[in-house]
Amino acid sequence: MSAVSCFDALRKALCADLDFHGTDGKYASHGWHPFPAKFPPQLPQFFIEYLSDVEDVILDPMLGSGTTLVEAMRLGRRVVGCDIDPLARMIAAAKLTPIEAVKTLQAGYRIIDAAKRDYWQNCDALKRELSMRFDAKTGEFVNYWFLPQQQLELIALLQHIESVPAHSEDSATALTQERIRDFLKVVFSSTIIAKSGGVSLARDLAHTRPHRDTDKKPNSAFAEFAKRLERNLAAYDSSRLKSQTMGAPLQIRAASADKTGLAPASVDLIVTSPPYANNAIDYMRAHKFSLVWFGWKIADLTKIRAQYLGHDAASGAECERLPEQCEKTLARLTELDAKKAVALRRYFGEMSAVIAEMQRVLKKGKAAVIVVGTSHLRGMDVETQKGLAAIGKSVGFDLAGIGVRRLDRDKRMMPARWGTKRHSQIEERMHEEYVIGLVKP
Ligand SMILES: C[S@@+](CC[C@H](N)C(=O)[O-])C[C@H]1O[C@@H](n2cnc3c(N)ncnc32)[C@H](O)[C@@H]1O
Repeated sequence: MSAVSCFDALRKALCADLDFHGTDGKYASHGWHPFPAKFPPQLPQFFIEYLSDVEDVILDPMLGSGTTLVEAMRLGRRVVGCDIDPLARMIAAAKLTPIEAVKTLQAGYRIIDAAKRDYWQNCDALKRELSMRFDAKTGEFVNYWFLPQQQLELIALLQHIESVPAHSEDSATALTQERIRDFLKVVFSSTIIAKSGGVSLARDLAHTRPHRDTDKKPNSAFAEFAKRLERNLAAYDSSRLKSQTMGAPLQIRAASADKTGLAPASVDLIVTSPPYANNAIDYMRAHKFSLVWFGWKIADLTKIRAQYLGHDAASGAECERLPEQCEKTLARLTELDAKKAVALRRYFGEMSAVIAEMQRVLKKGKAAVIVVGTSHLRGMDVETQKGLAAIGKSVGFDLAGIGVRRLDRDKRMMPARWGTKRHSQIEERMHEEYVIGLVKP
């Protein structure tokens, strides 16, 4: 597709109905783990089908739970993605790797049986393991949020999950076992970060605003694990994940979106969505509940959290002057709240580096599709979409347009407080997001 025809195609695509309400979002591996603000799969699917060809390289530099990459792979494209969040990478890698449902279910049940045996017969060994597993700060966190019963159940499950590859005899079996183990880790994580219930004392965890509820009776980790194991595999059809590019090595990078490490002009299409400008979704605040079990220390996770785009602690790219659109917004916001204006400037600065990187790695005539929600700071709509579109132009993209899509309130997990003030104008705007279409000339 030439630059002109890509531009025209994208312009047209942005006028289509991009809501995708009432569609199934849980086929293939899409429903395996909750993830705030994840795409409906039909959204990346639509742009990938429309703007790229089989074997093309599709990039999501902020891959989240990997929706873009799963859809790209299903459509026979080659995939590459980056994220600084270890949980996002773990979920996405598992979702992109086909597994055999029956074998995996059997392995899952064997693990539950073995873990239950340990719980009843080797409780002291489990307690010892718990006492050695975490450093002081991480242990404090675990003890604050998880009751002793769930801690013992979780560690029993995890020990058996971690030992899965140890039982394999040859390399093919080892690979199958490794895939099963990675899938079971995602199931394990989804018992902790759950939309409802869950095994910790936290409420609203999946909304990334956990608060401790000492009246809560957390579910048994064994029961939750079994439930999610079955649910994930019931919806799973590995043939829906298979494609010509299936054998290609997975390219999931622990890299920041502004430094992907990819070669210049090596990508055919980008479909991505950055975090909100005002840190409305605090991914790490929720993800650490799961990551601590996989060996991450609270202190290390706090450092990663500070690297999030839009995060309040982020040091941020040094911003020289931003495009006029951004400067105008910042001037208005400064009058209302100078501190928030500094944070927004930092976000725009960071996103400038990210969008410039997209421009660098895209081939000529190819598109970047950026899906973003706006933020309301001190009651002011900062029109993030217009700011990012202006930044896109300033780094050398042509702007094909900005599409609007209405969020499905029941499906796209947003911060809990967004359910309030249902009919206010701001609330309505919060349930829209924008699809910015950029083409590298
Ligand atoms: C809105 S989510 C993406 C959701 C994704 N589209 C999906 O369907 O699951 C934004 C993602 O950006 C990631 N992120 C934040 N800062 C980043 C950075 N500096 N580099 C790369 N990814 C980053 C977050 O970890 C999060 O996974």
